[in-house]
Amino acid sequence: LNLPSCDFVIFGTKGDLAKRKLFPSLYRLDKANKLYDNTRIIGVGRADWNKKKYLNIIKEYLKKFMKEKIENFIWTKFSNRLEFCNIDVNNMSDFAQLKKILNDPEKVIINYFAMPPNTFSAICRGLGAFNLNNNMSRIIIEKPLGSSFKTSQIINNQVAKYFQESQIFRIDHYLGKETVLNLLSLRFANSLFSKNWDNNTIDHIQITVAEEVGIEGRWKYFNEFGQMRDMVQNHLLQLLSIIAMEQPINFHADSIRNEKVKVLQSLSLIKDSDINKKTVIGQYTSGYLHGKVIPSYLDENGSNKKSNTETFVSLRVDIDNIRWKGVPFYLRTGKRLPCKCSEIVIFFKKITLNFFSEHLQSLPQNKLIIRLEPNEGLDIQILNKIPSLNLVHVLKSTKLDFCYSKNENFKHLPSAYERLLLECMLGMQSLFVRRDEVEEAWKWVDSIIYTWEKHVKYPELYSAGTWGPLLSNNMIIRDGRFWS
Ligand code: BG6
Repeated sequence: LNLPSCDFVIFGTKGDLAKRKLFPSLYRLDKANKLYDNTRIIGVGRADWNKKKYLNIIKEYLKKFMKEKIENFIWTKFSNRLEFCNIDVNNMSDFAQLKKILNDPEKVIINYFAMPPNTFSAICRGLGAFNLNNNMSRIIIEKPLGSSFKTSQIINNQVAKYFQESQIFRIDHYLGKETVLNLLSLRFANSLFSKNWDNNTIDHIQITVAEEVGIEGRWKYFNEFGQMRDMVQNHLLQLLSIIAMEQPINFHADSIRNEKVKVLQSLSLIKDSDINKKTVIGQYTSGYLHGKVIPSYLDENGSNKKSNTETFVSLRVDIDNIRWKGVPFYLRTGKRLPCKCSEIVIFFKKITLNFFSEHLQSLPQNKLIIRLEPNEGLDIQILNKIPSLNLVHVLKSTKLDFCYSKNENFKHLPSAYERLLLECMLGMQSLFVRRDEVEEAWKWVDSIIYTWEKHVKYPELYSAGTWGPLLSNNMIIRDGRFWS
């Protein structure tokens, strides 16, 4: 790898994202020798911290948010890269101080906007005023990129005034997860799957992203967004587009993103008359999770006790193209479900002529289960004969099981942010979301939210620790299928 010489600027050094994800990931990249020798990490924030104080603070973040211990040798190397710059992003002239630090025209500058989107415009203006948006400069921005098509356009337009699309890296951390990266290899490097990935062989696909956590002190943000905007618009639709896209002509960022965007453009709109058949929204009430009492959504810290925001969504999604005509994708995601568990399950069609039926055996479907979490890996469920002297072939569904953690060569799974920060340093955009992807996803999500506003005023209640409202089961059972 030709690591670039770069400076990494983090706007929002004191924020949660920087503490939990960015500093630990940069530390690990340094440990893996993936930071160029002269790379610096410049924290931007409003504080009169001197260098010593700043280093102490970052060390505390690392101690708190990394599972592994800080190694002295790595810390010495890492801490030499750290600098702090006291800037009020709303005060344009403050950016002069940053300009002083970023004084090497040969270096790539990566500006991570780890701040709310209503600050993006001011940050861009400040960078622009000091020519820090030149072609050596990149920005990383993260959701929420708007709460609708219109508001996302406003954000995209604001940053586009100062940066070209090739300089803008929109993060969706799901795209950096190893198991999601593996979807490309799984689909396009294995003829077993590449030749059996359409409506001839696949019956339906389920994507579940279940979370155990609730709102984690983010009630105000979450209540405005809800699970549809917080999880479906980005993470679940990204998973769906990788599962459903055609093979890109090559690995270039735009080749991959062109294919994903076509899927998003082919998502079938849900008619008003189908909204209750094809969508279910829920909100958790109090319940039990692992023996602990969990308060309801309306009793979470900071709640205003009255809200129709959904904490659970399930959807039947159809894709209007030749490959997927007739193959529904069922999506479900929610907070306070029984476990943190994300998986994509491909259900293959049943054998049309059951050769075993004379022995009264029905044949369950073959399944490919791609586990994003926990126990990252995959299972293939196939039918095998149970060994015996029985003259009748007795069949049993058996798992071919691959689990990353059980395999020496696959044990180390870099975190999503490590991967994404590295790709950005290298200027590679394929794991970042292009403007048209974000906007197409919003258009489709908006159409559903708009229909909910007209026809589905209240979310169904479900107890914390369960798999969402019963209606979500009914939705899939009505189609003759079951959640996996
Ligand atoms: C974030 C959402 O984007 O993803 C959170 O804002 C959610 O609400 C989180 O909990 C889930 O990410 P992961 O990687 O833990 O599945």
